[in-house]
Amino acid sequence: MSEQGRRWGPQTTAVHAGHAGVTGDLAPPLHLSTSFSHGSADEAAHAFAHEDSPIYSRWGNPTIAHLEAAVAALEGAEAALATASGMAAISTALLTALQSGDHVVATTGLYSGSYHLLRRDLPALGIECSVADATEPAAFAAAIRGNTKVIYLESPANPTFALNDLAAIVEIAQAHGLTTIIDNTFATPINQQPHRWGVDVTVHSATKYICGHGDAIAGVITASESFIQRARKGPLRNFGAVLSPFNAWLVLRGLHTLPLRMAQHNGSARHLADWLAHQPEVAWLRYPHHPSHPQYELARRQMTGGGGVLVFELHGGVAAGRTLLDHVRLCRRAVSLGDVRTLITHPASTTHASVAQQVRLAAGLSDGLVRLAVGLEDVEDLIADLSQALSKVAS
Ligand SMILES: Cc1ncc(COP(=O)(O)O)c(C=O)c1O
Repeated sequence: MSEQGRRWGPQTTAVHAGHAGVTGDLAPPLHLSTSFSHGSADEAAHAFAHEDSPIYSRWGNPTIAHLEAAVAALEGAEAALATASGMAAISTALLTALQSGDHVVATTGLYSGSYHLLRRDLPALGIECSVADATEPAAFAAAIRGNTKVIYLESPANPTFALNDLAAIVEIAQAHGLTTIIDNTFATPINQQPHRWGVDVTVHSATKYICGHGDAIAGVITASESFIQRARKGPLRNFGAVLSPFNAWLVLRGLHTLPLRMAQHNGSARHLADWLAHQPEVAWLRYPHHPSHPQYELARRQMTGGGGVLVFELHGGVAAGRTLLDHVRLCRRAVSLGDVRTLITHPASTTHASVAQQVRLAAGLSDGLVRLAVGLEDVEDLIADLSQALSKVAS
């Protein structure tokens, strides 16, 4: 989005992009209508032939269109498509790029929902998937087969924080004529703009930072106009995982402050990483913009901020993790991320308690691993809370 040929900065884009302003509203109008009337039979025929005015909200809706235009502008993409959830964005993007008989190479360290979709649900539809080491571009090249159509990435990966080298993997994909898709949820368009590295499609759980307030489940895809049209008129419309206009409105409201919020998330998480690295109860930590990250150079090259999530391993395994969680007062014991509130989880005793220890360890989920999704509180208050809780772990 630009004014007089000059590209707007991210905060101006977040505030102004996509606003049609036809009725003079400054704040985004909320269009709840499921269908839209036409002035005449000719206008109705024109709308159906060209789909350039609203018809039915499963096909498109002005509030949702506003959100789509704003996210496309922030990602530097031609177009965007909003969906009912992050998983709907991922499944819609994959079903747009793949059909029965195709093969996809996916990165290690995927979000569990994406992993199950790629390893269980898509194979049931005749789409095969193999996995390549996130940190080894050559592993992606080695996994390509004659029927490979897509390379699927997630960087940083959750919770190992392994990074995909976007430039190197895109080069491999382009040499083989493959579509690249990346889950950019953790980084957001503020910290990482995959299209600039040549990635074809981004998918987001907009439930997280883009909405930012923990009150709407949503997803979004950005890509070329032709990919978005295929996704909109195909899998999204017919499988039907469309976003509600009200959730689009909530996400838009959050999106207006995304760059400001990301600056605070980035700064606080980096500060906490520095502080945690010096706590005796902490064995190690992972944060993309902390010098201890094994791919620190790559993180600095392709991410302008480290994001709001970090993980750390406590000495003392499962018991230490549970003790820490029992004693935090300000951090909230809850899954998810990108909320205004700081959320803390101990995967070994909660989300992954049912996973065999060996399998959990192989996925990088060690016994004392704690995930902190840093919110927007004053960082000194977060340090005070974690400090008193860590003292209980020590004793
Ligand atoms: C990286 C990532 N991608 C996708 C999703 C799925 O998003 P949603 O819950 O909005 O469907 C999540 C959810 O936690 C996630 O962390």
